[in-house]
Amino acid sequence: MKVTIFGSGYVGLVTGACLSEVGNHVLCADVDQHKIDMLKQGEIPIYEPGLDTLVQNGLDSGRLAFTTDMAKAVAHGLFQFIAVGTPPDEDGSADLQHVRAAARTVGQYMQDFRVIINKSTVPVGTADKVRETVTTELAKRGVDIPFDVVSNPEFLKEGAAVEDFMRPDRIVIGTNNLRTTELLRTLYAPFNRNRNRLLEMDVRSAELTKYAANAMLATKISFMNEMANLAECLGADIEKVRIGMGADPRIGYHFIYPGCGYGGSCFPKDVKALAYTAREAGYQAPLLSAVETVNQTQKERLFHKIREHFKGDLSGRTFALWGLAFKPKTDDMREAPSRTLMEALWQAGAQVRAYDPAAMNEAQRLYGERSDLRLCATPEDALTGADALVVVTEWNIFRSPDFEKMTTLLNNPVIFDGRNLYDPGYLARAGFVYYGIGRPARS
Ligand SMILES: NC(=O)c1ccc[n+]([C@@H]2O[C@H](COP(=O)([O-])OP(=O)(O)OC[C@H]3O[C@@H](n4cnc5c(N)ncnc54)[C@H](O)[C@@H]3O)[C@@H](O)[C@H]2O)c1
Repeated sequence: MKVTIFGSGYVGLVTGACLSEVGNHVLCADVDQHKIDMLKQGEIPIYEPGLDTLVQNGLDSGRLAFTTDMAKAVAHGLFQFIAVGTPPDEDGSADLQHVRAAARTVGQYMQDFRVIINKSTVPVGTADKVRETVTTELAKRGVDIPFDVVSNPEFLKEGAAVEDFMRPDRIVIGTNNLRTTELLRTLYAPFNRNRNRLLEMDVRSAELTKYAANAMLATKISFMNEMANLAECLGADIEKVRIGMGADPRIGYHFIYPGCGYGGSCFPKDVKALAYTAREAGYQAPLLSAVETVNQTQKERLFHKIREHFKGDLSGRTFALWGLAFKPKTDDMREAPSRTLMEALWQAGAQVRAYDPAAMNEAQRLYGERSDLRLCATPEDALTGADALVVVTEWNIFRSPDFEKMTTLLNNPVIFDGRNLYDPGYLARAGFVYYGIGRPARS
């Protein structure tokens, strides 16, 4: 089948590469000329395990191509996926300018029936807006060409995006049009083989499903962070509490890890956008506001612990940061807790020596050259001459370090563990002062 995808970011590129891998002819269109030039050469602008091989396969087979030529893009595919960014506006609402632009493009150039698929995370009612936009463009041209708009939100996780797309736990299709459902059922058939994962629903329910799912996940994290903070006040250990809680199958062990706050391109903006949508609909959604507030505070938690330990004086001190990406297996630093922490440390006059297995280029791009940031080649290098280690992202490589060697590299054997990777008792015996999240301080 022929597929066009607007937006070659985390979602668009993975969608395009996976659809071409199973035999479709995919044309990915983006407004970013530099990105398209890189992709045409098989260079992947993001870190995503397994994606480079799929893109190369697609290029080699001629089934995957990239363009900035929008007329060509619209002419190519029966399916026109919109996978552009929907960043937060100043008031927290989802900024739909890129979605509208893509819809306008389709309306400007389409000659035959097209199925327009909203894959971006968009507020309830956006399919109607896309439909209006396309209709307006067709009217301007004085033509009447049939098209349909369907909601097909994406649930992939950065770091496991290819795997998630290839083996989805659900494929949500929001449309009332049976013909469109059948077309999408055919397109998704290769990813829907051992049991039916295709969930058909009306457009609005599909749009809300994506936000509700992300808001639920964010709620789990903020809830656990709130319990961790309470555990600290009460002298309990949240890691013991977590294990006790998760044993209840109604709660379970997934996604109940306390930490230094959630980040990334989705949870923060989606929780805000859903709260905004609720307000617009005349509902206040107090739980969503609390989830967001708890997370903001949690992202400052490590800094407060550091400041307290060093008795308020961080000026001239140096901190080793392990982990810059908002989570492991990605280079994405959008809304990452590492950024809140580094910016607070700099504000307090401290220096940062940072290491991340994937996000070094991204950190360089975001912060450029500055005297208070050293991007280090290895985790050990980051420790050299630092007054403490702060673990911000739970990459595997940080899980079992050589603690003995660390004591020789650090100025002081102090660890602030924002992901509760280490055993406080073991570290105490190894001579470290250890601070976790929601655990009694032991030194
Ligand atoms: N990143 C994730 O893990 C994830 C997961 C599920 C859903 N989503 C949602 O998918 C959408 C895309 O997210 P992303 O992380 O891939 O974004 P991204 O910022 O990585 O990529 C968006 C791309 O769209 C391009 N673009 C903007 N306007 C365009 C236009 N008019 N025509 C063609 N291309 C255009 C940009 O240049 C950019 O390359 C968002 O709504 C996001 O919430 C993201």
